[in-house]
Amino acid sequence: MDKLLIHGGTPLFGEVDISGAKNAALPILCACLLTAEPLHLRNVPQLNDISTMLRLIAQMGVEVTMDGSDGLILDSRGLNNPVAPYDMVKTMRASIMVLGPLVARCGEARVSLPGGCAIGARPVDQHIKGLQAMGAEILVEQGYVHATVKRLKGARIITDMVTVTGTENLMMAAVLADGETIIENAAREPEVVDLANCLNAMGARVAGAGTDHIVIQGVELLHGATHSIMPDRIETGTYLCAAAVTGGNIRLTNTSATYLDSVVVKLLETGCEVTAESNVISLKAPPRLKAVSVRTSPYPGFPTDMQAQFMAINSVADGTAVIRETIFENRFMHAVELIRLGADIKIDASNATVTGVPHLDGATVMATDLRASASLVIAGLVAQGETLIERIYHLDRGYERIEEKLTRLGASVRRVR
Ligand code: UD1
Repeated sequence: MDKLLIHGGTPLFGEVDISGAKNAALPILCACLLTAEPLHLRNVPQLNDISTMLRLIAQMGVEVTMDGSDGLILDSRGLNNPVAPYDMVKTMRASIMVLGPLVARCGEARVSLPGGCAIGARPVDQHIKGLQAMGAEILVEQGYVHATVKRLKGARIITDMVTVTGTENLMMAAVLADGETIIENAAREPEVVDLANCLNAMGARVAGAGTDHIVIQGVELLHGATHSIMPDRIETGTYLCAAAVTGGNIRLTNTSATYLDSVVVKLLETGCEVTAESNVISLKAPPRLKAVSVRTSPYPGFPTDMQAQFMAINSVADGTAVIRETIFENRFMHAVELIRLGADIKIDASNATVTGVPHLDGATVMATDLRASASLVIAGLVAQGETLIERIYHLDRGYERIEEKLTRLGASVRRVR
């Protein structure tokens, strides 16, 4: 298993390109299942989660053609196996997003339940209830969701909580349903908007994406389209944190500050200077950051996917901060690893109190999930001496060429095989 060896202490300096957003690309790959015509995608990040999704849809009969380094053509004309087997779904929960498109296009789907994951139980009851409201017959048997319907019917769906992939799954199902679907309490994440834009380019009629009230007029058929995936706001935020904590000065290109307000506000509170132009965002860090408290919440609130990175920042900042996680029940596993590096963190249920220490010391630590891994990289970059991060396959799921990008910014980072 690959490990990452980081020699900390060098401020990050320079410029790197941000990749396409993993969390926008994953639902958009599923959207290809809705049409028999080719979907041409650009700015697709090369990540393990993307390869997993491509393998999953390929075994359903989708023809996948690479087009240059970041392009893909997906042709679902031959879609003949609306099944998502456990072996594939268990490695990536986002696989559940094939359910909506498959039922809508094929009238049938058999998709394995994803089960829990390291950060919490993460049920998919809202996805299932929404499809039932649209008239799908759903049986959950032997760990699989088996959905059948002649044609989905428009419905008014009010989700019990804000769910990102739930909103995306139901939106994809509704585009081919008979009549109007309204999703209330919808997730407002920018990735939901990117999916809606792609669906509309394919001939769908989705309005209100980006608000909590999405209205979809079902159509008979969708056609092919070309769509460029939005920049990854979490990758952007992660590099900004890495630069901030090392006292660096970086410029991130091919990105946008538009969707990062809540993160930028917090970085400004730490004392960093952040400037944004149209597709560039720059950060200059002070010698020592001020501690900042954060509370995660659905967009436009502070993203849970940036919580771990801010815990790393606070570990060496001046003062004490409280980090409150409200989305997932078990998302503090990085804390014990940060403590191994010398951080002062006390966990009490969903609150973590972090008191900044003058410095962290390198050690061997273990990555437990994607964003936890990112926080360990950030901590390793500022720690004195060497930090060895084990199980970095989590990082490869969500950060494209991370060691190459960090090296370009002057960090001493090496993959150990
Ligand atoms: C997505 C993101 C993930 C991010 C998360 C929250 C993708 C591929 N993943 O995950 O990176 O951390 O949003 O911003 O986009 N819930 C239920 N029942 C459901 C659905 C959700 O109880 O049917 C709960 C979850 O357990 C969680 C909360 O709702 O506590 C929010 O989860 P959700 O927004 O669905 O997260 P994901 O879409 O899985």
